[in-house]
Amino acid sequence: LNNGLASTPQMGWNSWNFFACNISETIIKETTDALVSTGLAELGYDHVNIDDCWSSPLRDLKGQLVPDTITFPSGIKALADYVHGKGLKLGIYSDAGVFTCQVRPGSLFHEKDDAALFASWGVDYLKYDNCFNLGIEPKKRYPPMRDALNETGCSIFYSLCEWGVDDPALWAGKVGNSWRTTGDINDTWASIADINDKWASYAGPGGWNDPDMLEVGNGGMSYQEYRAHFSIWALMKAPLLIGCDVRNMTAETFEILSNKEVIAVNQDPLGVQGRKVYVSGTDNCLQVWAGPLSGHRLVVALWNRCPKAETITAQWDALGLESSTKVSVRDLWQHKQVTGDAVSSFAAQVDAHDCQMYIFTPRTVTRSVI
Ligand code: GLA
Repeated sequence: LNNGLASTPQMGWNSWNFFACNISETIIKETTDALVSTGLAELGYDHVNIDDCWSSPLRDLKGQLVPDTITFPSGIKALADYVHGKGLKLGIYSDAGVFTCQVRPGSLFHEKDDAALFASWGVDYLKYDNCFNLGIEPKKRYPPMRDALNETGCSIFYSLCEWGVDDPALWAGKVGNSWRTTGDINDTWASIADINDKWASYAGPGGWNDPDMLEVGNGGMSYQEYRAHFSIWALMKAPLLIGCDVRNMTAETFEILSNKEVIAVNQDPLGVQGRKVYVSGTDNCLQVWAGPLSGHRLVVALWNRCPKAETITAQWDALGLESSTKVSVRDLWQHKQVTGDAVSSFAAQVDAHDCQMYIFTPRTVTRSVI
């Protein structure tokens, strides 16, 4: 969507994956403080996004949405002021249906009123869900909120959460700044490994594929699995929305989420989504994912989905490199150069369910055609 936002994928935090409905203004404020004090905010995680359950079960007599009086007693405007005071942005949630997924009032047919209310509160971001949609197709339900947000005159990031219904990549580029390509993921390896790159060519500055929010740090996966999850999401130019309790992160969780080199891949100004370029092994469990970066560089991920450590080889033809091209290789998890230039292929041993990630910089400039 051409609204001046989303030149790179959005980054930040969202309440749903860890807190679900158990949210409050205290949690949102403490999370804001933690994003700042841990340094995550400075690394680019600048949105604090409230998900479902912030609203009272009923609209007021004027038909307006009302924050839950017990959990958000100070209201959303005060919260936005708090978040802005810390240099961050506040996101809110509603639904392109008659109710949200947790049966709070939805915004279908209330688009103008609700967009104006969000704008009056100083909200910077709207996630717009798909429950209780009366069977009307997403293509018809999502544009009215885009127009209503636009009419407020405020810059509000518009995140579509239509769960991949009706192939949003084909139509949402003109509607939102990101669109969900899948149903909800969960905190399991099977869920992460199910991710697909089908819509890669439709992503770019202004509008991104959204394979759902991060589960890193929620406890259901190993360090290696979370590292693979984060690596592939970054390479896919997915939104990097943290979904754990950042007030109580382990050192390992922080190490993954704060990897500057991996974040830089996600936020690269070229804005081209990487994809799966080569598979081998039983059930295609050895995978090479790659994509172009600015400065004629490539990001290359060697992703081992097999049950034991294996060697994975990236062949130059799969990467779109000329066979004579030499590349220097930087390891984004070890934070060091791999010694010597690589020629015609590059291989590494990768632990089970782990993913290694590299930047290849050609010595002779050869335009990649991935
Ligand atoms: C849907 C969305 C989730 C979350 C919940 C909240 O399932 O896809 O991301 O927002 O609703 O109820």
